[in-house]
This record gives sequence, C-alpha cells and structure tokens, in this order.
Amino acid sequence: MSTTTDTLTIIRPDDWHLHLRDGAVLDSVVADTARQFARAIIMPNLQPPVTTVALAIAYRDRIYAALKLAGMGEGSFEPLMTLYLTDNTSAADILAAKQSGAVHGVKLYPAGATTNSAAGVTDLLGRCSLALEAMQSAGLPLLVHGEVTDPAIDLFDREAVFIDRVMIPLRRAFPELKVVFEHLTTREGVNYVREAEGPVAATITAHHLLYNRNALFQGGIRPHWYCLPVLKREQHRLALLDAATSGTGRFFLGTDSAPHSKGLKENACGCAGCYTALHAMELYATAFDSVGHLDRLEAFASLNGPAFYGLPVNQGKLVLQRGSYQIPAELPMADSTVVPLAAGESLAWKVVA
Ligand code: NCD
Ligand code: ZN
Repeated sequence: MSTTTDTLTIIRPDDWHLHLRDGAVLDSVVADTARQFARAIIMPNLQPPVTTVALAIAYRDRIYAALKLAGMGEGSFEPLMTLYLTDNTSAADILAAKQSGAVHGVKLYPAGATTNSAAGVTDLLGRCSLALEAMQSAGLPLLVHGEVTDPAIDLFDREAVFIDRVMIPLRRAFPELKVVFEHLTTREGVNYVREAEGPVAATITAHHLLYNRNALFQGGIRPHWYCLPVLKREQHRLALLDAATSGTGRFFLGTDSAPHSKGLKENACGCAGCYTALHAMELYATAFDSVGHLDRLEAFASLNGPAFYGLPVNQGKLVLQRGSYQIPAELPMADSTVVPLAAGESLAWKVVA
C-alpha cells in the first residue's frame, strides 16, 4: 500500500457480501462491482433461492455471461457462490458444496428477516444441526443475517437480541464452525465479534460506517437510506468505524449493495437495500479518511477477508485519488433505473485505476 495526501494505492479489494440479482438487473449492475473488486461473495436470495450446488453453478454461469455482455474479460472478476440455508439443507448438500470448489459459504436468513427470506430457516439449532455439523467439519463458513424476526422485539434491537438468542447458543454447539456476522450494525455486535472465541468475523457496509439513523429522516423520509439491518444510532456508527479502522483481522469489507428499482424504493412500502456497488470504494475511503485512517483501508478491504476465507490475496492494485466526485442521480437498470446511495452528493475520493 502507498499513500500520499492525494493518492491511495491498495491491493485490489474484494466484496464479501453482495447482491447481484438475476436476468436484466444482473446485466445492468455486474460491471459496477467488477470495476472495483476482484471477487465477491454472491448472496443467494434469488427467487427461488439458490439452495443447491447445481443452482449455484448455473447462477455463476449467468454472472459470467453478464460480465461478457458488459464487455469485461474472462478473469476480470470471480463470483464466489453461496448456498441459501433452509430447514431442509442436508449434510450431503453441504459436502457437495464444499467439493464443488464454487461455493464458499452458506447463508442463514432467519425466515422473514429481509428481502426474499421467506424460504429461510425457522429454527437453526432445531432444524439445521446436521448441515451445521457438516459445515463445521468441512470448514465451510456460515454467513449470518443476524437479526431475530420476533415482532415483539423492537426493530432497532433485533441484532443485539440475536446475539443472545442465536449466536451464543450456536457457537456453544459448534465452537469450530466458521461464522461471518454479516453487515454488522451495532456496538453490541462489534463487542461480540471482538471477544468471541473461535473463528468468528464480521462484514461492515460503507453506509453503516458513514450514516446513522438520522439519514433516514433528514428533511423527510428518505427511502434510499433504508436497508436491513436498519441504520442505528450514532454511538453504533462510531463503534463500527472504530472496529473497521482498528486493524483487527476479524472485520472486513462487505458492501451489501442491494439494487432495487427506483419505483420499488420510492413507494408506500419501499424495499430494503442500498445501491453502493457503483461507488463502494469511494464511500469506504471517505469513511476511513474521516478518522484519519486511510492507512488501514487495505487490510479491511483486501487482506482480512481472504485470510478468513482461506483464499489468496489478489494480484492487482486499485488506485484512488482525492478530488471531488459527484454521485449520479440515477443509473439505467433493466427497464427502469436504480438510485445510488447519496445520489447527487459529492465524495472526496474517486477510483481512478
Ligand atoms: C437485501 C436485499 O435487498 O436483498 N436488503 C438489504 O436491505 N440489505 C437483503 C439483506 O441483505 O438483508
Ligand atoms: Zn445482504
């Protein structure tokens, strides 16, 4: 890594949590990620969900086809596939996933927690023990959407309650299971991941590093800032920023870029998800710069993730330059448009190579 006040060169980063969707939306968004990242963990919450190796490999082929359509050469980007855990995932499904070499994690969506999670898990330890046992033995990580779905629990408390109700019993039952606490959003989550014994890590989004929940309501209700887990109070943002820039290997980059068309966001019941693939590294650089820690961005974006997943570090470089970059108002997406996070605002960093 090298930094001057105006240029930052880092090893090419990876995105450890990404939604690419499918069909015409996939065709529209895939190049945004491939321009900045060498690899990404691809979320399996399609409709129907990606529950088997065959479905994962077919989806990977569609991603490669979309890359080609976007004019990006073979080898420019590697999709790291995941399986969607259900109550019916078997130990054989897990073994096949591991042996495929294409699947790098298994995603837990508590049923009903977020977009396309209806087929998710209803009772993790009750229904998925054999799959979890197989994942632990195979060294295949469990990627966790860490929120309880109990309607009696306040939306803003669902991550903290998940730690007590699910994470702690899970880690007690499967102490060697690799677990990634996805899109961490709270101080309680940060403390848990810092202190947990065994192979536990977490991804952090750019939006949770840059914004607190005030962003949702600034001057009126702003649907493009709505995602799950929802933005939290300032004290939580500060804890996340501290964790991401601490140099600790357990925290790494995961954008959770989740495209929804403009019409589905600006709606009486708007979808959850922020589109950040377009300007992911600009957003992260802005966040790290805000606390004077650009020197820690490379570890967070390019080193900690591969170390946890047991994959090699990338070969190429990414260069960011200081300068005013205006985020576009919207971008074409399938037969509609997508509004990137913080559209129309300016950022102080731009990816240049
Ligand atoms: C994601 C989506 O739209 O698929 N939405 C989101 O708000 N992050 C699902 C998810 O990761 O929760
Ligand atoms: Zn997500």
